Amino acid sequence: MKIAVLKERAPGETRVAASPETVKKFIALGNEFAVESGAGAHAAFTDDAYADAGAIIGDAKATVKDADIVLGIQAPEVAVLKGAKAGAWVAALFDPFTKTDLLEAYAKAGYEALSMEFMPRITRAQSMDVLSSQSNLAGYKSVVHSADVYGRAFPMMMTAAGTVQAARCFIMGVGVAGLQAIATAKRLGAQVSATDVRSATKEQIQSLGAKAIFVEEVAGIEGEGSGGYATEMSDEYKAAQAKLVSEHIAKQDIVITTALIPGRAAPVLVTDAQIATMKPGSVIFDLAVAQGGNVEGSKPDEVVEKHGVKIIGYANTPAHLAADASALFARNHFNFLSAFWDKEAGKPVLDEEIGDAIRLTKDGDIVNERLKGA
Ligand code: NAI
Repeated sequence: MKIAVLKERAPGETRVAASPETVKKFIALGNEFAVESGAGAHAAFTDDAYADAGAIIGDAKATVKDADIVLGIQAPEVAVLKGAKAGAWVAALFDPFTKTDLLEAYAKAGYEALSMEFMPRITRAQSMDVLSSQSNLAGYKSVVHSADVYGRAFPMMMTAAGTVQAARCFIMGVGVAGLQAIATAKRLGAQVSATDVRSATKEQIQSLGAKAIFVEEVAGIEGEGSGGYATEMSDEYKAAQAKLVSEHIAKQDIVITTALIPGRAAPVLVTDAQIATMKPGSVIFDLAVAQGGNVEGSKPDEVVEKHGVKIIGYANTPAHLAADASALFARNHFNFLSAFWDKEAGKPVLDEEIGDAIRLTKDGDIVNERLKGA
């Protein structure tokens, strides 16, 4: 099999879908591995490092020529894939609910699009899950960047010149990113509180030493929620949550929002009126800004100042930790394909549970169940 990795072409994308480590591992499985020259430039992986691992370095055309599998971070346009084998697999992020034109183009070109964001949340797929590996880093970065923008310190400091108060940090949405944000803010010495709609997160928040802030009078989502995902909440819940947040947020210095609902715009959790109650100099990091935002007025890659509060959020947070994000994404790819490697056939053979969950296009059609009702 020939496996290919191209330079990412999306604006602001710094990551790369293979590391020298995973190149070596794929070659050990009996494959040929091609990497486009400069593909790892922003992630601290040089062409020489890939070549030392056994990769063939070339231009885009030579890299995809006769490829059986193309690995990516963000799925490339089909034009870039010209020359790959008929029916080649492309495993990457497809943003399937939004990028319908891209999927149609993949179907038409006969490629098999494998959406890494549709990896099912089951135990055996954890090591293949790019949403987890990237969200974890994003949660960390959101706190570190907020600490940098915040004009005060995070930990309490008792000095001869007086006491510096600990920052109060509130995390909204306690999935993978939120849990890492709590842990990072704690490590920096902040006083941390957090909230979510899924009741299972209450114990997780407390076990990290943070305070759980929960709507009590209206039922939220029992336990983990279906597949670990939240759904749109009722109007009654939203009203109770807004009241709770209004009371709490006025006392916070840093707010990190991470709430997502698959296939829908992110829920608005912080309104302009609530921002107006916060102290000047406070910082809000909206990790959901690229999905429409949890915070009224937030804009990707911009610092928006409202009522003296800085509202920030990157369009692509993991891209700001390119080396680690790439290394983990690359391992997710390897863990995925190697788990299905059929030694005799010399290629991966997907099972139904994972194959059907992530396959978007095949033999000229869009085939994924989740997209049929979308
Ligand atoms: P996510 O990125 O879909 O959402 C982030 C968080 O926002 C979630 O905790 C969600 O409940 C919360 N949220 C949504 N709407 C909200 C609202 N209106 N107000 C407050 N919070 C709101 O979630 P993520 O990070 O993907 O993880 C969710 C769960 O799935 C976790 O328990 C995680 O451990 C599990 N998971 C399991 C995997 C596996 O078994 N392979 C892989 C990835 C996650």
